Formats: sequence, structure tokens, C-alpha cells
Amino acid sequence: MTNSREILPDVYWLYEEGPDRSGMIEAMEPIPDWYDPDDPVYIPQCAYLIDGAEHSLLFDTLSPASTEHVLAELDALLDEPLEYLVVSHPDVPHAGNAPAIMAEHGAELVAPRYGDDHELYRLDDALLVGEGDSIDLGSFVVDFHEATFLDAPVSLWMSERTEEMLFPVDWLGFPHHASEQLRFVDELEHDLDGTRLLQFHGRVLFWHQYVDVDKVQREIDRLKRYYDPAWILPSHGLVIRDDALAYMDQLKGVVEEIQRRERIGTLG
Ligand SMILES: [Fe+2]
Repeated sequence: MTNSREILPDVYWLYEEGPDRSGMIEAMEPIPDWYDPDDPVYIPQCAYLIDGAEHSLLFDTLSPASTEHVLAELDALLDEPLEYLVVSHPDVPHAGNAPAIMAEHGAELVAPRYGDDHELYRLDDALLVGEGDSIDLGSFVVDFHEATFLDAPVSLWMSERTEEMLFPVDWLGFPHHASEQLRFVDELEHDLDGTRLLQFHGRVLFWHQYVDVDKVQREIDRLKRYYDPAWILPSHGLVIRDDALAYMDQLKGVVEEIQRRERIGTLG
């Protein structure tokens, strides 16, 4: 089951729920107060479509479970074929529909210039971008960045200037209830707290177990100053449009907590 939401004029959030993760929350001690056993829990896949005045761009593709959904959304939302397809990193939930979208739209493939072995991922013909590169879409301008917190060497982050959006890919992901699908974080009944952030970062960005916590916390401060986003659009969470810096700050405590524990598990 997938869906989408227009989050700003001409900016669309494409969503894929994935499997029910309730067991992950039920195993927590104590069970967090936001959890409702009658409401499934998802850690979604998200992709974002920006339909600029001049050009259109899709950031990530969802997983192959959503091929029909993504193609149908692009048909419904765009008047012309998609022009730029950005893959944040060559991981199936992020890039898995790239071949189908390229076949249908003939978009220019945009990929991280970081890491190597691009040919293994069939990214050697892509437009390779990183820090200092941007694409002007008309009413929006996107900038590309080296990913600070990542799960693959071939990775990038993206930001957008007009609306001050940050797309931090696997950073700032978190679980939510089925009833909270496609809601902004400020629309939730229970605020986004560290228990949700811990479940994602402890499993996916598990290497936080081995980092220098002070250094990571200083890096988070640097990211706040550098990006100062009004919006955070994560690949595995809900969109934040209010108090974005406060949620970046919450990760400081989450990193400390990840170090205090044994590894909490994986994300299958
Ligand atoms: Fe991911």
C-alpha cells in the first residue's frame, strides 16, 4: 500500500509503508507511550518529487514493491516526462525503481560522485554530483552534498534553496503508526521522541556504537549551522516542517544511547 502527499506547491512526498514493525516496539523496555498495539508500525520508504517551473526532479525511487505506484504517480503529477532522477545511493529501497523510471521517462540519471565501483551499480553513465554541484529547476534550486551520516560509500545528500529543505536520506529516519502515514511530525498526537529515533539509528546506522560521541555531537552542531533547514525530508520517516533544528539536536542524545546499549537489532 503506497500513497503520496503534496507538501508544498509542486513538491510531492511519495510513500511506501513496508512491513509491520510492531514487534520492534513491543520488545522495548519500557514500551514507549506513543505505541498503540492496535495500530501497525512502519518504517517507510520515501521519495520526493519537485516539479520546478523549468525542470522536474525525483529524489530516490522507493522499492520495486512500488514500481506501479511510482510510475502512476509520476504520470498523474507531471505534465511532461520526468527530467532528472537522483539516486541517493545504490540501495534497493532507494534506487530499486531507477531502471523502470528511466525506461518510461528517459530522465537524466544523477548519482553520487563519492565512493567507487560506480560501474557495478550501472551508475558510470550517470551525471555524478557532489558538494558544489547544483541543478536549477526554475522555481527551485537543489544542491548536492557529501553525506555526513550514511550507510554506503556511494552516497549523497541534497538540499533545496528556495524552501530550505534538507534531504538527509538515512539520517533522521524513525518508525510511525499506520494512522500517522504521510503526516507531518507537527501533526502527530505524540511528539517525535528519542525512542523512535533510537529504533532506526540503532539498527541502520548501527556504526554509531563505535563512534566518538563528542565528535558526532559537534558534527551535528556543524550540520545545524551549515544547512539550517526549515524542512527535513527523510527517506525513512515523516516530514518535519517545524523546529527542524530541535530534531537534529535530539540525535545527540540518541547517539549517546546507542553507545550505552548492546546493538538493538537489525532492520530486515
Ligand atoms: Fe535507507
